Amino acid sequence: SWTMASFVRNSVEEIRATVGDRRVVLGLSGGVDSSVAALLLHQAIGNQLTSVFVDNGLLRQGEAEKVLSLFKRHFRMNIRFVRARAQFLAALKGVEDPERKRKIIGRVFVEVFDSEAQKIRDVDYLAQGTLYPDVIESRSAFGGPSAVIKSHHNVGGLPRRMKMKLIEPLKHLFKDEVRLLGRELGLPDEMIWRHPFPGPGLGIRIIGEVTSRRLALLRKADAILLEEIKAADYYRRLWQSFVILLPLKSVGIMGDQRTYENIAAIRAVTSDDAMTADWARLPHELLGSIANRIINEVRGINRVVYDISSKPPSTIEWE
Ligand code: XMP
Repeated sequence: SWTMASFVRNSVEEIRATVGDRRVVLGLSGGVDSSVAALLLHQAIGNQLTSVFVDNGLLRQGEAEKVLSLFKRHFRMNIRFVRARAQFLAALKGVEDPERKRKIIGRVFVEVFDSEAQKIRDVDYLAQGTLYPDVIESRSAFGGPSAVIKSHHNVGGLPRRMKMKLIEPLKHLFKDEVRLLGRELGLPDEMIWRHPFPGPGLGIRIIGEVTSRRLALLRKADAILLEEIKAADYYRRLWQSFVILLPLKSVGIMGDQRTYENIAAIRAVTSDDAMTADWARLPHELLGSIANRIINEVRGINRVVYDISSKPPSTIEWE
């Protein structure tokens, strides 16, 4: 649109004037905000931008490859892909408490990102896809009640001790404006309309300890759920939809064999801003085919349940 085109022009000018011949580093997650920020910076300063993508092993199936092929091959961006699965898994070993998981995942991310950024010469700037509501929320929730419920402020979550100046080109924008901007910059619809995905990723969708076996189960089940939701044309109507792997086993039967396997829960919600949410009234047929496919195709899951809780008093995520 006309307004977004002029927003891009102005931002590009401003970024160039600020950065000069220095270099900028950005943590690319594949979410809408960091993706749009990366594209905007790339448009302004090209290869003076290095985007760091950390594969923490807690991503959805095919996620890392998708992000890499889009930004590296399609947009020809300068990307550093860091394989850090083992590091995250090792740090999470034996940890069951959700808040401890979040802290550990956040800390390891900072360590990994930090050491990667050190390798880039002449980096003066750290770019982030902070939006206007993030700025407001991190101020008002400072010490407030929502701050203690879950420690998921993405703002300021990146290395402080690195002496870099912050660039936040989206900090005056709302989410719908970021989507328009993304479209203007050529980001595919599939990325623009993506459901939010939490920073700690699948790590907080496995209740209890995170192990590579449990991750593999969850990834498969989650991919099936998304496939079915998209095929039924429900993706755009939902705020989020995902699978949670429970550390519970139940008895089942396959052929003439008794099974004793894991239970998976499906969560699908509608919402405007994640502050409140309602469980989605998905058609029973759709729920049925999701459950059938997960149970038949994922060895290790023999029962699927649907979460019919609203927020509040429940939260969207289970941890
Ligand atoms: P809850 O579960 O609190 O989630 O109703 C509200 C929204 O926030 C997302 N969420 C997170 N995002 N790091 C994030 O970046 C986190 O630790 C985190 N926890 C929850 C959740 O997916 C939902 O969109």
